[in-house]
Amino acid sequence: MSGHPSTYEPKNGFTKWMDQRLPIIRMGADFMTYPSPRNLNYWYTFGGILTLCLVAQIITGIILAMHYTPSVDAAFESVQRIKRDVPFGWLLQPMHAVGASMFFFAVYIHMFRGLYYGSYKAPREMVWILGCVIYLVMMATGFLGYTLPWGQMSFWGATVITGFFGAIPVVGESVQQWLLGGYAVDNATLNRFFSLHYLLPFVIAAIVGLHVWAMHHAGQNNPVGIEPKSKEDTLSFHPYYTAKDFFAICIFLLIFAYFLFYYPDSLGHADNYIEADALETPAHIVPEWYFLPFYAILRAVPSKLLGILLMFAAVAVLFILPWLDTSKVRSMRFRPVTKLWFILFVIACFVLGWHGALSPDDPVMGVKSVWWSRAATLYYFSFFLIILPVMGLIETPKDRPDSITKSVLGEASS
Ligand code: HEM
Repeated sequence: MSGHPSTYEPKNGFTKWMDQRLPIIRMGADFMTYPSPRNLNYWYTFGGILTLCLVAQIITGIILAMHYTPSVDAAFESVQRIKRDVPFGWLLQPMHAVGASMFFFAVYIHMFRGLYYGSYKAPREMVWILGCVIYLVMMATGFLGYTLPWGQMSFWGATVITGFFGAIPVVGESVQQWLLGGYAVDNATLNRFFSLHYLLPFVIAAIVGLHVWAMHHAGQNNPVGIEPKSKEDTLSFHPYYTAKDFFAICIFLLIFAYFLFYYPDSLGHADNYIEADALETPAHIVPEWYFLPFYAILRAVPSKLLGILLMFAAVAVLFILPWLDTSKVRSMRFRPVTKLWFILFVIACFVLGWHGALSPDDPVMGVKSVWWSRAATLYYFSFFLIILPVMGLIETPKDRPDSITKSVLGEASS
């Protein structure tokens, strides 16, 4: 699994016995000694941070599930009870809710990092594609989980999102009913959403296993985007990167704690403190912050069906990215013009997120919000479908160092 020749030697009778039957200790040892490029920077600590987030979400989620009641009559109350009466519930519930936001925050940095350093390029296409699958399942899990507290945004968010499926021609209505377990968001919906919300994190954990396996098999990319050529170019994962990951995790936990203890509600919506009411539509139905860019894309076009198609296309385009970028050079460090387009792309994502939270008619700098969303949507797709394919063919990249070691030591490139 580790993708490098094993150097593990079983030392005692038990480890020798085990190694011949189930070489799990060998796997762990090989994982720890995995030769990682010696120039990995702090952007490379987010994989470890994400692993921690996933484990934390699963543990807090399992405990919450012991006290949560998935029924429309009791769900809202049960969450309030968890916060007030269950030992440490006041901590566990916001840890899970804020944890979801921190998880998405980390995954976005992880994805932008992959984009910037060209980690999706051969031979790492599978690492990237499995990452995209994880992202899709994460989105589903986040959406399903938000329904569970059965607040106003839970209910209306679920109504709007399942409504998208109703817009699919011919089969849409049946698909929507199948998702809901009826004609509207109700008890059957809450039950199946709870069941799936419990299941999917384990599916994510399994795909993360494949993701890391694929990465170890292909070898890790690095900030200069050139492959290690000698032993000198790599370092053992432990203790070098375990120490670096540990430090980054501590900083991440400080930020997490800041939100958790000082602003636990700042990342959610106040309307979710009102119990779901099918007869009272909130003034603005908005998804959680991490879905806002997609929400802006959805509303950028007047046709509902086209909006939905565009929204799904925004994720689908990530899957084919390895074949859209035609450049032979991986890292944007050596692609001066593409780097500028990339910075604009990040700005476009922020613009989409910002306008996803506004009403389409809200004026921003004298222009209706929907027009900002349209411009950013156009740029989002142009970046993948035009800029990356074309720039790869016409851009003259900067000279790259001969080796990772030379880049670290600052020696001249040839
Ligand atoms: C639960 C979510 C995820 C976990 C736990 C996870 C875990 C990891 C870990 C441990 C690494 C190695 C360390 C590092 O490079 O940071 C890694 C690398 C990578 N991940 Fe993820 N990942 C997740 C989601 C994603 C997503 C959503 C994408 C992209 C769509 C992605 C794309 C990549 C790529 C391309 C690499 C290779 C980086 C390189 O070699 O430069 N990952 N991931």
